[in-house]
Amino acid sequence: MRKRTPIIAGNWKMHLTSAEAIQLVDGIHYGLPFPGEVEVIVATPFLSLPEVARHLRDSYIGIAAQNLHFDDQGAFTGECSGKQIKDAGADYVIVGHSERRQYFAETDEIINKKIKAAYRNNLIPILCVGETLEERETGEFSAIIGRQLAVGLLDLTGPDAAKLIIAYEPVWAIGTGRTALAEQVEDVHRLIRVSLAFKYGGMVADAVRILYGGSVKPANSRELLTLPNVDGALVGGASLNAPDFIEIIKSID
Ligand code: 13P
Repeated sequence: MRKRTPIIAGNWKMHLTSAEAIQLVDGIHYGLPFPGEVEVIVATPFLSLPEVARHLRDSYIGIAAQNLHFDDQGAFTGECSGKQIKDAGADYVIVGHSERRQYFAETDEIINKKIKAAYRNNLIPILCVGETLEERETGEFSAIIGRQLAVGLLDLTGPDAAKLIIAYEPVWAIGTGRTALAEQVEDVHRLIRVSLAFKYGGMVADAVRILYGGSVKPANSRELLTLPNVDGALVGGASLNAPDFIEIIKSID
């Protein structure tokens, strides 16, 4: 019996037109009408989000955006706010994905403002943390993840922290086909939970779902998802294919 309801989330990144997105979620639904004790989420691009959300209104699949601006409105050309994302039908939002940190210069301070904007708009943030290959090899990774959590979650109250979803995504395992070893994954997940317990107490730390992301596929999902501190997966490439995504959901026991 699991302590926490697991989550399988698909991050579609900058893929799929609206028509393709509808076809994919239909494929998931027809292929898996009853997912069991698991929350399933898809993180769509902004443009397909409203249509997918409308289409999935009575479905078990929840909707996430992949990013948000930290203000609720204003002169920020090309951005979307938490208020607009909520209005479009999402209940979750990915914050601080490594691709945003790397290509869009998002700092932990910006990510903290985005986390606050998510809660202000009733969106549950999926905070991504993780180290680069260099940080893994130099052994700095625990300090880096500690900082990402400390600054990213600054000023967060205990009740809000309990609703949080964290995704550990080692940058060197994203889109590379190279998955972290089960032992490396469990070590970092445990570290994250211990640091949450230190900051918010054991009850909050026990409630937070910590997902693993980085080349998760049907061939490795079962091993990763049975680790004691792994509460699900954030899946990139394999979430674009209904049969693969279903296999990953089914690997939750
Ligand atoms: P891949 O599963 O394609 O490695 O992507 C992981 C990821 O970045 C999910 O957010």
